[in-house]
Amino acid sequence: MAEFNLLAKYPRAKRNVVARKLGQAENRIIARQFGREYFDGTREQGYGGYRYDGRWLPIARDIAAHYELSAGDRVLDIGCAKGFLMRDLMEVVPGLEIWGLEISQYAIDNCHPEVRGRIVRGTAQELPFVSGSMAAVLSINVVHNLPYEACVEAVREIERVAPGRGYIQVDAYRNDDERDAFLDWVLTAETFGKPDMWSELFRRARYTGDYYWTILEIPNRSDSAE
Ligand SMILES: C[S@@+](CC[C@H](N)C(=O)[O-])C[C@H]1O[C@@H](n2cnc3c(N)ncnc32)[C@H](O)[C@@H]1O
Repeated sequence: MAEFNLLAKYPRAKRNVVARKLGQAENRIIARQFGREYFDGTREQGYGGYRYDGRWLPIARDIAAHYELSAGDRVLDIGCAKGFLMRDLMEVVPGLEIWGLEISQYAIDNCHPEVRGRIVRGTAQELPFVSGSMAAVLSINVVHNLPYEACVEAVREIERVAPGRGYIQVDAYRNDDERDAFLDWVLTAETFGKPDMWSELFRRARYTGDYYWTILEIPNRSDSAE
């Protein structure tokens, strides 16, 4: 089990914390439906437009190198959204057998055309894949959307399907300032805390794969860009 950031090359997002905080309670209800508003509505309710732009390509290369992926390997991306990372992994590793799992029918219906038919609708706590069948399982900013016990189940499932070959990234904060920034911004996460909380959760799930944290930079309290 190793703590390292596979998303080091992911571009920083622009965040207007003040605007999102204004209607946060209602925005959370809408965002948690993971429908059109979350992916392609306003930034206050989610991504503010989730379109393919190639940003996952360098990350796909790093994932392929780290897990030494090659043609014929099976890889699962849990909470794959519209499948952009899946698409880029297919480009980086020709012949890779890539699968996605999504709770959102909207994301599946609007996925990248090159991954159509490769995303299964379901939830992270119950993976419809055989134990040990994946060369790697990725779960980037997904399992924290579940309540604590369901989150433990989801982490167990990742370990079951790819023992020691999972990569989990989740929301976290290291101090009170980061926690306050996180609480002002968060829409969908239900389980979050300091890295220690996550380490304990991983221990409970007997997780032996890799992991890292999504930690918001602390904005100054006007319109801010990360
Ligand atoms: C923050 S997005 C992350 C998307 C993508 N992994 C990325 O990093 O860009 C969370 C994704 O997880 C999906 N999701 C939320 N709860 C889920 C669950 N219980 N099982 C599977 N997918 C879920 C959402 O529909 C959404 O696509």
